[in-house]
Amino acid sequence: MSTTATQQMIALEGRGLTKVFGGVAALNNVDVQFPTGSVTAVMGDNGAGKSTLMKILSGVHPADSGILEVNGHAQVFRSPSDARDAGIETVHQDLSLADHRDIAANLFLGRELTTGWGPFRRLAIKRMREEALESLTALGVDIPSVAAEVRHLSGGQRQAIAIARAVHFGCSILIMDEPMAALGLREAQKVQNLITDLASRGITQIIVSHNLDHTFAVANRIIVFRQGRVAGVHDTSTASPSDVLHTINGLD
Ligand SMILES: Nc1ncnc2c1ncn2[C@@H]1O[C@H](COP(=O)(O)OP(=O)(O)O)[C@@H](O)[C@H]1O
Ligand SMILES: [Mg+2]
Repeated sequence: MSTTATQQMIALEGRGLTKVFGGVAALNNVDVQFPTGSVTAVMGDNGAGKSTLMKILSGVHPADSGILEVNGHAQVFRSPSDARDAGIETVHQDLSLADHRDIAANLFLGRELTTGWGPFRRLAIKRMREEALESLTALGVDIPSVAAEVRHLSGGQRQAIAIARAVHFGCSILIMDEPMAALGLREAQKVQNLITDLASRGITQIIVSHNLDHTFAVANRIIVFRQGRVAGVHDTSTASPSDVLHTINGLD
């Protein structure tokens, strides 16, 4: 087990995070740090507190107590849009895509570009398609056409669209819940490549995962949760998958 070098810049930090649901502490006085540009996997058994942490970091729930800092500045998130304003985007497990709309429309969902004024204002469809194509090409995402409906895409393509949407608007911190679950080997590999590419662009990533192979392929660090507490932090360059399993199962 190892800790991160202290001289590293910290993009996101939580200190003393606690969240209680009906008398049960889903998170119990948790300290977490996410170094700038790192890829951190969050692992742990069902009920360990992973989703609760993601929800606090993305502004879905407030913590009952504790402090959040983004780039060293204290932040209070009252909503997901507060977290977005601080540069944090989240790709939820359901992806929140509009299945019957095209790829470009999905990339700009809720943040549509418009043209014209007053009664002449309308969606800038051509510009959104051009920008969507540019953005997806830059990320190396394979799609048939930006005018294709999302329901016709594979699981991996859908995941890539959701990730591209999150980064299109310039986030510096990206939270993903199980981005490679339910994907075949080749598609999981493509999503892994995308995560590695985003890391090379300096985006700090936090990934909930149940799969040790995926985790070791993309993450620099693994934070293991057990019963609402941090059970251990591993560095993937020095730890083995069995070290991590031991921590998940509470054997060390
Ligand atoms: N909205 C909620 N209401 C009541 N209990 C909750 C709620 N969310 C989570 N919990 C409880 O908090 C604990 C941690 O849950 P969660 O963060 O979802 O764990 P994980 O994502 O690691 O499986 C569990 O005991 C769960 O039942
Ligand atoms: Mg969960």
